Amino acid sequence: MTLPRAELSTAAERFGTPLYVYDAAELDAALARVRAAFGTARVFYAMKANPNLTLLRRMRAAGVGFECVSAGEIARAEHIGAKGDAVLVNGPAKSAEEYAAGARLGATFIVDRAEEVGLLPPRSKALVRVNPALAVSTHDHLATGAAGSKFGVTLEQAPGVLRALREAGHDARGLHVHIGSAIRNAADFSAAFARLMDLHPQTGDLEVLDVGGGWGVDADLAGIAREAQAAASVFGARLWVEPGRYLVARAGTLLTRVVGTKRTGRNFLLTDAGMTELLRPMLYGAQHPVTALWDGEAREKWDVAGPACESGDLLARDVPLPSPTPGDLLAIGEAGAYGASMSSTYLTRSRPAEALWDGSSWTLIRRRETPQEVWAAELQVVES
Ligand SMILES: Cc1ncc(COP(=O)(O)O)c(C=O)c1O
Repeated sequence: MTLPRAELSTAAERFGTPLYVYDAAELDAALARVRAAFGTARVFYAMKANPNLTLLRRMRAAGVGFECVSAGEIARAEHIGAKGDAVLVNGPAKSAEEYAAGARLGATFIVDRAEEVGLLPPRSKALVRVNPALAVSTHDHLATGAAGSKFGVTLEQAPGVLRALREAGHDARGLHVHIGSAIRNAADFSAAFARLMDLHPQTGDLEVLDVGGGWGVDADLAGIAREAQAAASVFGARLWVEPGRYLVARAGTLLTRVVGTKRTGRNFLLTDAGMTELLRPMLYGAQHPVTALWDGEAREKWDVAGPACESGDLLARDVPLPSPTPGDLLAIGEAGAYGASMSSTYLTRSRPAEALWDGSSWTLIRRRETPQEVWAAELQVVES
């Protein structure tokens, strides 16, 4: 956690909890680390990690492009003025609306299956996503490049899809690979890139090699970058990358207050945030660092449990913490990616507020929803 403790308390007082807070300095530092490792590679932020418009605008100002996977994400890109080569449109089952919106922006489409050749708008710019059919060291639900995963075309199909795109009048710019998310092991990436390089005799040189994202927050970026650059140079291609998590995870912290405790053989620390604010522990068994913002010696271990009526609603297990009092603040770290963006209104809970720390002051960048906003789209049709 990079934010000063006193400032975290101030933010919780001012904006209430549950609250996502982001440290602008760490956002900038993460981008600087990516640029230092990947040199001249073009960086596209996978906005699914955190699509807050303030964060997107900061990235756009820093020259970052965007990878979008839904009509809503394309609309966000358009809303902040991103277009042309700054926008990628991806997804395994794109809708007619998504093709039209991508074409309007002059985006590059990432083709995920052969049938897309006939679905793309005329004269589209396109990359072909390849599934390298590799087992990857991450949670099953986070692996996208395994044989049997729904993403991409097979290694055998890829050269034919590139050819078909060209024959259909599209601008087939190159290949794309993304093997999964939260991957720490550089060897997983090099194995995938090696399988792509094997395709060079069939594809010839390409304009672009896009190696996706998927880097865990403590991944060896320099090692991954070296392998990626080597693969790009085999194709004589410009390297593109699409990090999501890496750019925002560490900068974000979820602040939650202790509601109370319960001892039933296990020690439960009940908090005002849970699966509706941070789904990752429940969805992927993700482990986030938990820090008590109150003093004392950690004598017991606690299961941090949210307020939802779901037994899986746990943010962390067996965390050593000092004895808590209702109202104490907990900081759930590395929560900037897939935290706020996966928060939900299940149980008619209002999605949390978000605030940005710029080193000297807080700015609210998303206010907490009201219950009325949560049900606003319901038409309340009553049969008489
Ligand atoms: C095609 C593609 N690119 C980039 C990303 C970003 O992944 P990460 O946030 O792990 O860097 C994803 C995530 O699912 C993806 O599917």
